[in-house]
Amino acid sequence: MASSSSSSSPPPPSFSSPMIQIQSLILLFLFLLPLSSSSSSSSSSSSNSTTIYEVLKSKGLPVGLLPKGITKYSMNDSSGEFEVMMEEPCNAKFENEVHYDSSIKGTLGYGQIGKLSGISAQELFLWFPVKGIRVDVPNSGVIHFDVGVADKQFAISIFEAPPECTPQPDAVDAGESDHSLWSVW
Ligand SMILES: *[C@@H]1O[C@H](CO)[C@@H](O)[C@H](O)[C@H]1NC(C)=O
Ligand SMILES: *[C@@H]1O[C@H](CO)[C@@H](O)[C@H](O)[C@H]1NC(C)=O
Repeated sequence: MASSSSSSSPPPPSFSSPMIQIQSLILLFLFLLPLSSSSSSSSSSSSNSTTIYEVLKSKGLPVGLLPKGITKYSMNDSSGEFEVMMEEPCNAKFENEVHYDSSIKGTLGYGQIGKLSGISAQELFLWFPVKGIRVDVPNSGVIHFDVGVADKQFAISIFEAPPECTPQPDAVDAGESDHSLWSVW
């Protein structure tokens, strides 16, 4: 009479292995998270856990001051001296074109970079070496580029994110423009 077939019991659920994978993923994350966030505190030379962008941010500076893809830098935490090593020199476009040498050096302080070398900004077809960068504290939305002859101001918002940078040899025009710069002024 009771003909309900008992033969069609569902197959044992096979979710056990995905389940385990998920669990181990979670475990993995639990391990990785503290690792990546803790080991960053104070190293005197390039540690792969803290990026130069995080360093900039911790100094109250916009991360877009440096182009994308920088992995090598060194930093002296006590003096603030740093060096950023780029694969190759390149140009990025903001309001103005900015050129980055393959080695950028300077001294980082809160809200400012001093003794800067390796960055130049184009203005009216001339290249001006940027000697310092400063944001107002408290932040007024303006960032100042000290180009020696002038204090150039930009909206800080244009440096919100690291720009793409197009490989571009340094050199010739940088030297030339120094001359034209001085002859103009
Ligand atoms: C940093 O990189 C080195 C090799 O490049 C590696 O051995 C080390 O485990 C890395 N450290 C961290 C915290 O990722
Ligand atoms: C870091 O800066 C301090 C203070 O200027 C200096 O005494 C020290 O030699 C520097 N360390 C390195 C590794 O350059």
